[in-house]
Amino acid sequence: MAKVAVLGYGTVGSGVVEVLERNADSVKLKAGEEVVVKSVLDLRDFPGDPIQEKIVHDIDLIVNDKEIDVVVEVMGGVDVPYKFVKACLEAGKSVCTSNKALVEAKGPELIALAKSKNVNFMFEASVGGGIPIIRPLNTSLTADKVNKITGIMNGTTNYILTKMSMEGASYEDVLKEAQELGYAERNPEADVEGHDACRKISILTSLYSGKTVKFKNVTCEGITKISNEDFAYAKKLGCVIKLLASSYVKDGKVYAITAPFMIDKNHPLYNVNGVLNGIYVNGNMVGDLMFFGSGAGKLPTAAAVCADVVDCVKNLSNHQEVFWSEEELDLGDTNDEVR
Ligand code: HSE
Repeated sequence: MAKVAVLGYGTVGSGVVEVLERNADSVKLKAGEEVVVKSVLDLRDFPGDPIQEKIVHDIDLIVNDKEIDVVVEVMGGVDVPYKFVKACLEAGKSVCTSNKALVEAKGPELIALAKSKNVNFMFEASVGGGIPIIRPLNTSLTADKVNKITGIMNGTTNYILTKMSMEGASYEDVLKEAQELGYAERNPEADVEGHDACRKISILTSLYSGKTVKFKNVTCEGITKISNEDFAYAKKLGCVIKLLASSYVKDGKVYAITAPFMIDKNHPLYNVNGVLNGIYVNGNMVGDLMFFGSGAGKLPTAAAVCADVVDCVKNLSNHQEVFWSEEELDLGDTNDEVR
């Protein structure tokens, strides 16, 4: 039996516990053994809830627990999760996270640490919620050269843009709704200012280039300046406005941007609405690929985290290579070809 600890019992953390319980039979089949949550780290208590018997308030109880093989980090933020994840990896535990801020800021360092301990640091859910995209880039597409990735990678802003343009809803109302539905970040500024999507394209670009793309070096604009006039103008042109996170390779140089774009009905992302994400990838051998599905939300995101948990359990003491070095990629000046 493999034992798991979950750091953070919020939307995704409670989803991870639910997925591992509800799908215990198929998880067991695919992991090769039963996978159970032993401990859940949270600042809060949950009196009357069965989860309470697993709640701990001290990370050392998890780090020093030799029975725990895999740790799920779904706390959000960077500094505290970094400290906790590092301690868990150093203690020889594999770690799975949905935390794109952590992956963007510390990904290559944590991958190298995992490698040195012969364990795994996995982050499928950090981009695209429930959509498989990290694993395809790390496995199925490793013989291809990626020419371009362009995607709707933030469910909250896509939900807002869709509701505003199709239903005339107000920005404030839809943002509140997205928060209530568990799509938005704790501080929704990361969503609406484009930082979340920008971190995601930085992670994907790092993975396909093998070097590090820092999100602060990527041109980034969010959706807060889009007005009703912009929606009306786009409609007149037969277009919709989408927040695209894109990067592409031209003459050996990589260009990246996150910004709202007007796209017409011939664009592969035109019909990606609501909380859905769509990620278009072009490889020099495979050609065009589209990844499409739930980009945020409790169970889709948790299922992606749990798939990593299954992989970690299958590969205890077997590090799976991830090609992402700490060397920074020299990005080109962004131009308009990203669309
Ligand atoms: N806030 C993020 C989004 C969550 O809306 O896409 C999933 O990464």
